[in-house]
Amino acid sequence: MGGNIWATIAAWTSFCLVLVLSAAAAADHGLLQDLGLNILPDISKINISLDEYTRMMNTYLQTRENSVDTDTAIPKLITFNVEKQVWWKKRDVSVRLKFPITATHQVEVENAQLRILAPPQAQGPTTVRVQVNQLLGGRRKKLLEERTFYLSKNFTKWCEVDVTSAVQSWLSGDINLGLELVCLDCESSLSPYQAAITSLIYPDIRRVRRSSPYQSERRTDCQKGKRQKRKCCRQNMKVNFTKLEFPEMNFIVEPKIYEAGYCHGLCPPNYNHATNHSRIQSLMHQMERKNAKIANRKIIPKACCAPSKLGPLEILLINKDDPTKLLLEKWDNMVVIECACS
Ligand SMILES: *[C@@H]1O[C@H](CO)[C@@H](O)[C@H](O)[C@H]1NC(C)=O
Ligand SMILES: *[C@@H]1O[C@H](CO)[C@@H](O)[C@H](O)[C@H]1NC(C)=O
Ligand SMILES: *[C@@H]1O[C@H](CO)[C@@H](O)[C@H](O)[C@H]1NC(C)=O
Ligand SMILES: *[C@@H]1O[C@H](CO)[C@@H](O)[C@H](O)[C@H]1NC(C)=O
Repeated sequence: MGGNIWATIAAWTSFCLVLVLSAAAAADHGLLQDLGLNILPDISKINISLDEYTRMMNTYLQTRENSVDTDTAIPKLITFNVEKQVWWKKRDVSVRLKFPITATHQVEVENAQLRILAPPQAQGPTTVRVQVNQLLGGRRKKLLEERTFYLSKNFTKWCEVDVTSAVQSWLSGDINLGLELVCLDCESSLSPYQAAITSLIYPDIRRVRRSSPYQSERRTDCQKGKRQKRKCCRQNMKVNFTKLEFPEMNFIVEPKIYEAGYCHGLCPPNYNHATNHSRIQSLMHQMERKNAKIANRKIIPKACCAPSKLGPLEILLINKDDPTKLLLEKWDNMVVIECACS
């Protein structure tokens, strides 16, 4: 009999899960529209200057600092301007850039971008493949990223490349020999008019592991340990926007990763009901189950484990109406704070 109950509960749990999953699949199209992403910026027109980035990133970090919803420590925006720029021959397609970054006390780099103001391409193509390497000494180098730059015939243009691993390695004590910017399709080197590395850095590694002020509010967080037959609770779920295979998510500048959480677990009778209605529904379910005569009929389902309290998320993204500007938006209901049976 006991085994029977658990089997039924397990069946209902997977039924709840199927409902949620099929609802999510059906909502794909709607999701992007809800998020206001149905008109996407033209990727080739994105031209975010260093000033615009710095100004909006500081506003974003300030907003996060002021928000009670913050889940982790807030990093600092630190900009390193290029100190030395070397290119060898006139027709060489590579340029070396050096930045004043050396080992400091323990720090953690959340991300670091090389931002360059690329010269106009009067001759040659304007869509070019570019590689950025970290110089390691001798002839050794490490490829950091290869990506497409959309340049302009008549105007300068801002471009960016991820250099997080290089900045992390210099700050942790590796010798800094600089970066190499190689334009694979250019006539000559892509010698930038301006170059800087913007990085988000946690100055003190201990702060990262500080427990969040929100933790106390998350009464329904799952306890570590016993995994089987767990009752409805809030699990951690880190979302990496870069990994979600929606091209639309590429327009999100910050955060790249956030803790969204999800709800999962069993909803036995009288356990953590979200509303009076879900309590009543649970009672209906129990009553109908007891009545063996109608066992073959569809019975009222038991409650499903679902979010009962959600929080917003601050998002810094590229303005679709003006791809030279960033936009700060607050998206509602992006983070699960508490779960209940409903
Ligand atoms: C670039 O400049 C040239 C000459 O100054 C002009 O003829 C051409 O239309 C310009 N192209 C663009 C895309 O503005
Ligand atoms: C990109 O922005 C810079 C200033 O931030 C401007 O000088 C340049 O003309 C812009 N380039 C294009 C192609 O619009
Ligand atoms: C997020 O996803 C991207 C793309 O897969 C990956 O390069 C990056 O390391 C991920 N970040 C973290 C912190 O997992
Ligand atoms: C159920 O209803 C009563 C009376 O309105 C209310 O006091 C109580 O908070 C409700 N319970 C829940 C879980 O909503």
